[in-house]
Amino acid sequence: MLSLLSNYLLLAIEVGADLPGSNVIDRWLGEPIKAAILPTSIFLTNKKGFPVLSKVHQRLIFRLFKVTFTLEVSEMQSVTLVQFVISGSHHHSEKEFCSYLQYLEYLSQNRPPPNAYEMFAKGYEDYLQSPLQPLMDNLESQTYEVFEKDPVKYSQYQQAVYKCLLDRVPEEEKETNTQILMVLGAGRGPLVNASIRAAKQAERLIKVYAVEKNPNAVITLEGWRYEEWGSQVTVVSSDMREWNPPEKADIIVSELLGSFGDNELSPECLDGAQHFLKEGGVSIPGEYTSYLAPISSSKLYNEVRACREKAQFEMPYVVRLHNFHQLSNPLPCFIFQHPNKDPVIDNNRYCCLKYNIKLNTVLHGFAGYFQTVLYKDVTLSICPESHSPGMFSWFPILFPIKQPIPLKEGDTVCVRFWRCNNGKKVWYEWAVTSPICSAIHNPTGRSYTIGL
Ligand SMILES: C[S@@+](CC[C@H](N)C(=O)[O-])C[C@H]1O[C@@H](n2cnc3c(N)ncnc32)[C@H](O)[C@@H]1O
Repeated sequence: MLSLLSNYLLLAIEVGADLPGSNVIDRWLGEPIKAAILPTSIFLTNKKGFPVLSKVHQRLIFRLFKVTFTLEVSEMQSVTLVQFVISGSHHHSEKEFCSYLQYLEYLSQNRPPPNAYEMFAKGYEDYLQSPLQPLMDNLESQTYEVFEKDPVKYSQYQQAVYKCLLDRVPEEEKETNTQILMVLGAGRGPLVNASIRAAKQAERLIKVYAVEKNPNAVITLEGWRYEEWGSQVTVVSSDMREWNPPEKADIIVSELLGSFGDNELSPECLDGAQHFLKEGGVSIPGEYTSYLAPISSSKLYNEVRACREKAQFEMPYVVRLHNFHQLSNPLPCFIFQHPNKDPVIDNNRYCCLKYNIKLNTVLHGFAGYFQTVLYKDVTLSICPESHSPGMFSWFPILFPIKQPIPLKEGDTVCVRFWRCNNGKKVWYEWAVTSPICSAIHNPTGRSYTIGL
């Protein structure tokens, strides 16, 4: 059943007694569902004679409770939940007809509680945001404040610095060997604090440089130094690529990662700083990899189409993906390692990814994620299957395509991605080349670039 509302095509699904396989359900939950029709015949009867649903039906209802869609009427937005329609004749005649609705109400009140990530992301579902550009722009204090609330990111960094210090300083040198640790892009100082905690935990000595180019954040760093850190920390107000340090570092610690790993220009910043890392010195992170997966989502396609930008399909968006269907597992795209030991440093990249499609659907774009190795086995990930539990610092990134591409079961989707730069700016270009060719999106960075 279909309904046309405010330029959106919405649909109602009818839930049968025999549910289809999970990939078919996933596919329908990627559609803009406005209503779910529940025939009375799918209800079972419990011992007391009341209508109830089987466990698999309950799981579907719980997923439907999470589906929302945004209606825009005269520039006013309202978020609406899926409506449930009970159809058919009364199968539990000794009970009131409203017992079906009472049971749904009961399920609604007893649904599994949201996890930390879902709680944090509430209200951001399918909401498109422009990716941050912390190199070109100075982040606001509130933005840092949101980062700093992440319960997982900084403890993983602490663990990475801890393991690295234990590896670099043997027990017998712990009172004589002071490691020079530089936090590059220190923001308001959480990685400095994580490093100091790690040194205490490892019982090792460190001297810290906190390097930051945002003058507003530097004021907060100076405050920390005055109030807490003292002479153990030197605050440096500079772009790391231009700084001439008085000594070289044993360890450089940074977090310049965007939702697609390299899209906040971590490679270029760290390459510009690695001349002051000692021979054999360590970068935390040591490596990061971006990932891409094809997705179907008419909801997100319509959200992009409704954007006021002129070339809205030629730019990526940071978005808490919600009403979408991932058509195949994410595949690795671009890898960067630090320190970069290549004789000629070149951060341009090209890759061609192929995905097997298992059902008839429509391609609307690609979801981007990243994984990073901070140090040895200490990692962070926003890929769905390996997501660091409870970490909410990054939502995925979406690369849309201009024309949706119909796909058949057994098709291979082939997409090509390029990372390009002209010395002043970095940008991505992308094109689908199978089963049909799309346009090349964002050629020469004409619609979207990231400033160096
Ligand atoms: C994503 S924030 C991370 C801040 C902080 N380390 C944290 O984890 O909360 C990146 C920080 O690096 C700074 N930054 C980016 N590029 C830089 C550069 N080339 N030199 C110095 N600081 C830089 C930004 O101003 C920003 O404060």
